Amino acid sequence: MTENQTLTVRDNRTGEEYELPITDGTVRASDFNQIGKSADEPGLAVYDPGFTNTASTRSAVTYIDGDKGILEYRGYPIEQLAEKSTFLEVAYLLIHGELPTKEQHERWVHEITFHTFVHENVKSLMQGFRYDAHPMGMLLSSVGALSTFYPEARNISDPDVRHEQVVRMIAKMPTLGAWSFRHAQGKPYVYPDNDLNYTENFLSMLFKMSEPKYDPDPRLAKALDVLLILHADHEQNCSTNAVRSVGSSQVDPYSAVSAGIAALYGPLHGGANEAVLKMLRRIGSKDKIPAFIEGVKNGDEKLMGFGHRVYKNFDPRATIIKKACDDVFEVTGVNPLLEIAQELERIALEDDYFIKRKLYPNVDFYSGLIYEALQFPPEMFTVLFAIGRTPGWLAQWLELVDDKEQKIARPKQIYTGDRQLDFVPAEERWK
Ligand code: SDX
Repeated sequence: MTENQTLTVRDNRTGEEYELPITDGTVRASDFNQIGKSADEPGLAVYDPGFTNTASTRSAVTYIDGDKGILEYRGYPIEQLAEKSTFLEVAYLLIHGELPTKEQHERWVHEITFHTFVHENVKSLMQGFRYDAHPMGMLLSSVGALSTFYPEARNISDPDVRHEQVVRMIAKMPTLGAWSFRHAQGKPYVYPDNDLNYTENFLSMLFKMSEPKYDPDPRLAKALDVLLILHADHEQNCSTNAVRSVGSSQVDPYSAVSAGIAALYGPLHGGANEAVLKMLRRIGSKDKIPAFIEGVKNGDEKLMGFGHRVYKNFDPRATIIKKACDDVFEVTGVNPLLEIAQELERIALEDDYFIKRKLYPNVDFYSGLIYEALQFPPEMFTVLFAIGRTPGWLAQWLELVDDKEQKIARPKQIYTGDRQLDFVPAEERWK
């Protein structure tokens, strides 16, 4: 490849040629605007529904190589973090850009542990939901409501204020998530237990009943910690894009993160793990898989938990989760749906329809099986995803706030509607 890092564009409408600089494998979309620009013409824009080939930001948080199945948080491979780190240490890494010293880690864990409580009015707000409210609807509403309890969070230019909200959100997500779960079950909300670590405390707020102190199974707490690490960040995915887009208006971080939760709620994104379990249950048995696969090929449905915008090979998180399945099932017993999932994966990976479209299991294909074995109902799976993704959303939001290149998100459009119609008043129209 030559040293000449430019793109020569020839506008065949005018014969004009333009030299556009290539930087970091991209061309600035605004450089196209000079092409064909005149007093009457706006100049060229680029059209990219779903941003399938558009870089929206520079970021140093997460690196993914979709062809090689590589995922690194701040340069550290996900396999090493999942095996050797903890979720709170990974959260520190994502937020601060480096691994903590002993003293930093102790301070970080202390800060988060002592911010797990929420204002009692948030509890009253949550109790106002219908008995069968979806926990994700409760989570996105209660996180958004936190912006009204911490009005100082609007002062996003103050690094100390930003840090305070980051700690609060990472600390309070499990509390709000657990209370959404307890609400749906009609059980009393359990308050945080600061003697327990992050995932043990989460399990306590979820499952504690009349015992004076919840006794979490360390193997399950560890498996949950690994799952949270695997979900902690993932470049400019749909929900992170929502956080950045909403955050670009300089709104407080609670409102920006609640937009991310709303995006994650969708079945094509974070809601896929819930959809996978429902799909496996609907298939019901291995002998029904061929008919289901036919339905997918006919476009009647999607193979949920398969496919990815970036991973066109394997999703490294799915590989790690499959291993975590064994650890959890050792404690809980094997989830009967596992057999259907494994057979479905085997068939799909050999089928040309899926190979041609580079569809492989993603993070959601097996995570639901573990969550179900941990006694979570499907409605809670995406809440677990949201708790894991919170440090990632916040790390990306912090990057946005400090990025001098960023502006308020306001894309262009290709207008396809009518023009210059003459309005006919209602009394004439309805004669
Ligand atoms: C997450 O972006 C992230 O990083 C997301 C995430 C994260 O950590 O934040 O990794 C988490 O969201 C994982 C993805 C969870 N979603 C699902 O499992 C839902 C099922 N998968 C898809 O809907 C789909 O694969 C997406 C949404 C994940 C990706 O969609 P793309 O990149 O827009 O790809 P596409 O829809 O253009 O698909 C390309 C082709 C199409 O077929 P043709 O039109 O060419 O015939 O593949 C087909 C699609 O119809 N296809 C599928 C399929 N996924 C894509 N066909 C059947 N089953 C599927 N699952």
